[in-house]
Amino acid sequence: MGEKIRLDRLVASQMPKISRAEVKKLCLKSKISVNGKTVRRSDIRVDTDDEIIVDGKRIEYKKHIYIMLNKPRGVVCSTKEGSSTTVLDLVPEEMRRSGLFPAGRLDKDTLGFALITDDGELSHKMLSPKSHVPKTYLVRLEKPWEEEYESVMLQGMTIDGGEKCLPAEFKGSKDDPYMCELVLHEGKFHQVKRMFSALGNNVVMLKRIAIGSMALDPELAPGRCLEIMHKDVERLLAK
Ligand code: URA
Repeated sequence: MGEKIRLDRLVASQMPKISRAEVKKLCLKSKISVNGKTVRRSDIRVDTDDEIIVDGKRIEYKKHIYIMLNKPRGVVCSTKEGSSTTVLDLVPEEMRRSGLFPAGRLDKDTLGFALITDDGELSHKMLSPKSHVPKTYLVRLEKPWEEEYESVMLQGMTIDGGEKCLPAEFKGSKDDPYMCELVLHEGKFHQVKRMFSALGNNVVMLKRIAIGSMALDPELAPGRCLEIMHKDVERLLAK
């Protein structure tokens, strides 16, 4: 047994192009069936496990949707922005729903894994300072990285304004003196950039490559989205 919910709400939540008023009209035109029976009213309560067919299309009910976006540079992580493209503009039609938002923010010039969802509870869990979900970044620096970065970051750095950071794991690339990886367990504003700037260096490219234990799919082209299953999102939160 699933959850009980009004038919019009259920259909409108799963089919972004159909409003509740339109669900009512479709019912009057006998275009909606529930468990094989045509229904004429849109205000009836149905079970989310029921077989609901709207104009010949079966609804696969999902309470929430989780989307991995490979965010390109120049796109903002917000729900609305004057003239800039937002991460929501990149969500393809079939994944759109009302209430979608980016869970956490990447700067406009940061690339990589942005998680988009309509699940406020998950977002809260992921972003809560107490949860410490690790976020892994690939970084290109202006000047070569130095051995001491590892221990300084592991101790918990103090960045501008006296803000204390949690211990972070730094790993310099052995092949490229400008490339490194950094794992943070919190998300302060511009944190990666501010940490390197406190060390006298600058970030020239920043890409988030993992959230928790979930890596950005290497096959996912910049600007493209991939739907993630709920069980995989649970894994993402796993320590
Ligand atoms: N740290 C930054 O400086 N920018 C980001 O977008 C993410 C982490």
